[in-house]
Amino acid sequence: MVPLKRRKVPSSASSDSSPDVACKFPQVVLFLLERKMGSSRRTFLTDLCRKKGFRVNETFSESVTHVISEKNKGDDVRRWLRSQGHDLTIAHLVDIGWLTDSLRAGHPVDILEGHKLHTTDYTQSTHKLTSSGGEVTTRSIPAYACQRRTTLSNRNTIFTDALLLLAENAELSGDDGRGLAFRRGAAVLKALPEAVTDMRRLRGCPCLGEHSLRVIQDILETGVSREVESTKQSERYQAMKVLTGIFGVGLKTADQWFRDGIQNIHQLRHSGRTLNRAQQAGLAHYDDLMQPITKAEADVIANIVEEAVQAELPGSQVTLVGGFRRGNPSGHDVDFLITHPQEGREEGVIAKVVSRLEAQDFLLYQKTTRNSYMKSNDGPARPASSMDHFERCLCIFRLTTGEQHEPKACTQAPGEDSEGRASKRAVRVDLVVSPFSQVAFALLGWTGSKLFERELRRWATREKNMSLSSHALYDNKQGRYLKAATEEEIFAHLSLDYIPPSDRNT
Ligand code: UTP
Ligand code: MN
Repeated sequence: MVPLKRRKVPSSASSDSSPDVACKFPQVVLFLLERKMGSSRRTFLTDLCRKKGFRVNETFSESVTHVISEKNKGDDVRRWLRSQGHDLTIAHLVDIGWLTDSLRAGHPVDILEGHKLHTTDYTQSTHKLTSSGGEVTTRSIPAYACQRRTTLSNRNTIFTDALLLLAENAELSGDDGRGLAFRRGAAVLKALPEAVTDMRRLRGCPCLGEHSLRVIQDILETGVSREVESTKQSERYQAMKVLTGIFGVGLKTADQWFRDGIQNIHQLRHSGRTLNRAQQAGLAHYDDLMQPITKAEADVIANIVEEAVQAELPGSQVTLVGGFRRGNPSGHDVDFLITHPQEGREEGVIAKVVSRLEAQDFLLYQKTTRNSYMKSNDGPARPASSMDHFERCLCIFRLTTGEQHEPKACTQAPGEDSEGRASKRAVRVDLVVSPFSQVAFALLGWTGSKLFERELRRWATREKNMSLSSHALYDNKQGRYLKAATEEEIFAHLSLDYIPPSDRNT
């Protein structure tokens, strides 16, 4: 490979490192594009930036983190810089708006969608030559997970497992913000089509903060992250993971138990604690509920649910949602969305279906909650939230799997698989009922993944000034609800490319 020859951008200033005041943000290096901006405005802005403590380079180099242009289109900027011998996929391409916002704020602000120069297909990788002659593939990745396609194939599990464990640990400590930051970082790695082998590949990637980068670097250098290893060993992490893993047990309860010295299932069973009905069921079926549910088992449940719903309300539509709709081969529960094309007919259907399933002896536990959603004409009664208000039944099914499988106890290692040995097992099932007019929103909201949903709502709020829930989409600018009969229409309202369920595995 021939080393890339860099032609210098003509400049009058000779030095890149003679700011008027001390540089306050050493990790940020700006480059202002003269094209369309003009040389006098460029000089003026350069001086202003330096006065405010920003570092500005006169020439483009690998150390540049932000390329700032004015009145340019993304593709034009890229073409122009490439024509100058530069490949700039390692830096952020931002509009002058980002600079003025940053100058006003007195520090480099987060790059919002409106700050970015668009029009690149991020899946198109470009090849860039490094100074050492090695080839590094880089690409620009949109910042929101709902702008990206994420399939089940993940080339970076070694890194994403580590980051997700830290996310889980943060959440178990009540720090959801930090948890979310790790989850967003992991999501970016999941979206990369190749395994990361070099830190340089991550330059310019969104959502990877200092902490996440340190974890990745640790793994690249030593094979493991010390922080992850010590978290795994931590008593609190282990206990909280087991206790919150029990159906019906939330963070607060688990934390209280842990502080009372309860660290595992055995200790809980012998603690004499009063458990509520859900927790009793969770504890009774603990081992079964820890076993992942296969797609084949989900299909068996789907037939049972479909039969019961059609018997009680003919013409209903029953859709498998959650992870199985995204093509997951296994899951921790089975989620169904039920609706009826005649609005109003769906009311009360859950109670009938549950009675029927109970009479058929399919239910080991169930808790039904009524629909509590009230749509107001003035706008959402509360801000878009992840909580929704459908009529819903959380249940534990008794699934009979024995008939389909030949017993193979003699060849089977203990605990390897319950197939063949146990003919019955407990399985978590979630039934949700939506009025037909809301079903597209319910479908989108209940398909997940959880992070994908969070990112959709964040996008709606921050970039579109809209409120998205599993019931509706409200446009705050127009002061009205936006109707949608399909998921595609919701993506269109949000100015997002449609992402099919199989690509929402973020
Ligand atoms: P799940 O928790 O069932 O996750 O939520 P999953 O993606 O199916 O993965 P498994 O079950 O662990 O295999 C499914 C979807 O339902 C939404 C979640 O946001 C997720 O998108 N959901 C779940 C709600 O909207 N509200 C809830 O109370 C629970
Ligand atoms: Mn699920």
